[in-house]
Amino acid sequence: MPDEQSNGVGAAGGAEFAGRRVALGVSGGIAAYKAVEVLRGLQRAGCEVRVGMTKRACEFVTPLTFRALSGSHVVVDDYAPENPDPIAHITFSQSVELFVVAPATANVIAKFANGVADDFLTSTYLASNAPVVVAPAMNTTMLLHPATQRNLALLRADGVRVVEPDAGEMACGTIGPGRLSDPGLIVAAALEVLRAGGRGRGPVQDLAGERVLVTTGATREEIDPVRFISNHSSGRMGFAVAEAARSRGAEVLVVAGSTTAPPPAGVRVVRAVSAGEMRDAVMREVGGATVFVAAAAVADYRPAARAGGKIKKSDAALSLTLEPTPDILAEVSAARRDGLLVVGFAAETERVVENALEKMRRKNLDAIVANDLTQDGAGFDTETNVVTVITRDRQTPAALPLMSKLDAAHRVLDEVARLRRLSKTV
Ligand code: CTP
Repeated sequence: MPDEQSNGVGAAGGAEFAGRRVALGVSGGIAAYKAVEVLRGLQRAGCEVRVGMTKRACEFVTPLTFRALSGSHVVVDDYAPENPDPIAHITFSQSVELFVVAPATANVIAKFANGVADDFLTSTYLASNAPVVVAPAMNTTMLLHPATQRNLALLRADGVRVVEPDAGEMACGTIGPGRLSDPGLIVAAALEVLRAGGRGRGPVQDLAGERVLVTTGATREEIDPVRFISNHSSGRMGFAVAEAARSRGAEVLVVAGSTTAPPPAGVRVVRAVSAGEMRDAVMREVGGATVFVAAAAVADYRPAARAGGKIKKSDAALSLTLEPTPDILAEVSAARRDGLLVVGFAAETERVVENALEKMRRKNLDAIVANDLTQDGAGFDTETNVVTVITRDRQTPAALPLMSKLDAAHRVLDEVARLRRLSKTV
């Protein structure tokens, strides 16, 4: 059983959350026993918790366990004769302020995502207006299956807060992502949603209070008044990060180089042309930021000297001497104060994960988003991306399937929100 600290609930938690009504849904997986720790953590915080289970969950832990700990009848089947309330999915769902599902199996996630309501738990989901926190737990292959990823993306779009599973050794012996997140982190996420006062659906405001600074687009390094060195970046990925962060409650500022994608509404955009200008704008603004996401495709080299007049054509070969540009990401990271989370991107064509890991260590980042430019639908100037998010604490990365840049941005921000929660609980 975790102690007070590992639940992320301080001594004051009891008063702050006293009497808050939480429903805990338990679905059938080996991690069902860990739901006991989630229940205890929520109770320690002062919440009144009632439990609902799927039939399969009862094969892993008995309803009696949850009944003994919660002091209330545990609903498995609305229509069971011993159920004191024959329409529990309505009364139960409409009287709670938060619905936490831990563990959530692939099957339950699929049903939630598609509005299937064929048992108590899934009917409760559909009949409730309360915010929902879902903690998936399943075999790695099931988690990474495009169907599950699609369903999770649907849940996120519906405003469900997904507490990402851990990577590690699974009950089935394989190693990879899919293990239920630490119960303390699930409790912390649940309390954060309660604290944010989230009632009803809508994007979870888990980045409220954060000030996110994003770089995006390509820089242009001038050769002469009419020519420059640049790249194919559209700015779409950084703008997607900005849009996703804003929808999750953050205040967002984008420093944008040259872009062809439109900036999102509600976000302040400062323009910078060259790497030098982008560096200056970032260093000016980063003092007010709590999260820095470097999604810009900054030119690594620039002409050592810009010709004052247009370079005239001649038959002779032309050599340009290039010099390195300032590495904005490395500079921000080196100068960072406590609490600033720093996220980089790594666009690679070979040894993608190894190179990204090396970059994360070299630039001392909290997370890096690797994209493999050789994959269809990934990288520059596309609507979609194929990314692998690697964090300081989880270096066994999960390669995510092809998804929209906005979905990919949310996956990156899920990690930012998780790292922030982690920094608050240690
Ligand atoms: N970056 C930056 N300033 C630069 C170059 C890169 O802020 N002058 C940031 C990018 O926005 C990205 C990350 O650093 O988040 C990775 O950039 P990349 O150019 O791929 O990495 P490098 O360290 O320059 O390594 P290489 O080009 O050899 O892959």
